[in-house]
Amino acid sequence: MILILLGPPGAGKGTQAKRVEERFGLIQLSTGDLLREEVKTGSELGATAKKIMDAGELVPDDLIISMISARMDAGSGGNEVILDGFPRTEAQAEALDSMLAEKGLSLDHVIQIEVDEEAIIKRLAGRYSCTKCGAGYHDEFEKPAKDGVCDTCGGTDFQRRSDDNEQTVRTRMAAYHEQTRPILPFYERKGALNTVDGMATIDGVFNQIEEILE
Ligand code: AP5
Repeated sequence: MILILLGPPGAGKGTQAKRVEERFGLIQLSTGDLLREEVKTGSELGATAKKIMDAGELVPDDLIISMISARMDAGSGGNEVILDGFPRTEAQAEALDSMLAEKGLSLDHVIQIEVDEEAIIKRLAGRYSCTKCGAGYHDEFEKPAKDGVCDTCGGTDFQRRSDDNEQTVRTRMAAYHEQTRPILPFYERKGALNTVDGMATIDGVFNQIEEILE
């Protein structure tokens, strides 16, 4: 199954991708995570991407397309993949179509998660993750079972993303409205687009996604 999760920053794409991985055995491919990995390793791509990500703008299409194409060629996820945060522009959507056609694969579902703007600010202001294993949490909505201890690996060190401040989040939301929302009709025409109410609880959103995928 090839699934695309679309939605504004903080919609819950990463949170739901983890649940879909566990429930359906798909592999999450997140362009945001891949870029943050490049920043961490200090690669040339990482250095270019960091400035753009910190400003809340989109990394150029050619860099994103070659990064994702290399991952797909390396067999990351094979034909059981959740694309989280990709495609984000018309050029990326067209490039993905070509990549899938070359591999004889086709897209199964595109799920758009809809969330109000003020909820996004609140979600991103409270988001943090485990430094050791990357498991994601929220100050209010997704706390670890034991305060200060990661449920997944027992780690006690946590971090917040540098692009989760209010000003950058507003720029990221604008990028979503101007460059990503316009690709929705492309998937609607293919009959692949579904929309879920992202204002529900984390479990409530997952139930809606589960229904679509089942
Ligand atoms: P990326 O990392 O993809 O960021 P994003 O799209 O802005 O999305 P987020 O990861 O911030 O949010 P999410 O929807 O995954 O929410 P989450 O599940 O964490 O991209 C970062 C940057 O990289 C971009 O700005 C751009 O510069 C660059 N980039 C990446 N891909 C690119 C591409 N294809 N082209 C060009 N540039 C690209 O949830 C957020 C918080 O809310 C969590 O704390 C969670 O616990 C909580 N939460 C989740 N769901 C709920 C719920 N239902 N109720 C209450 N709380 C919830």
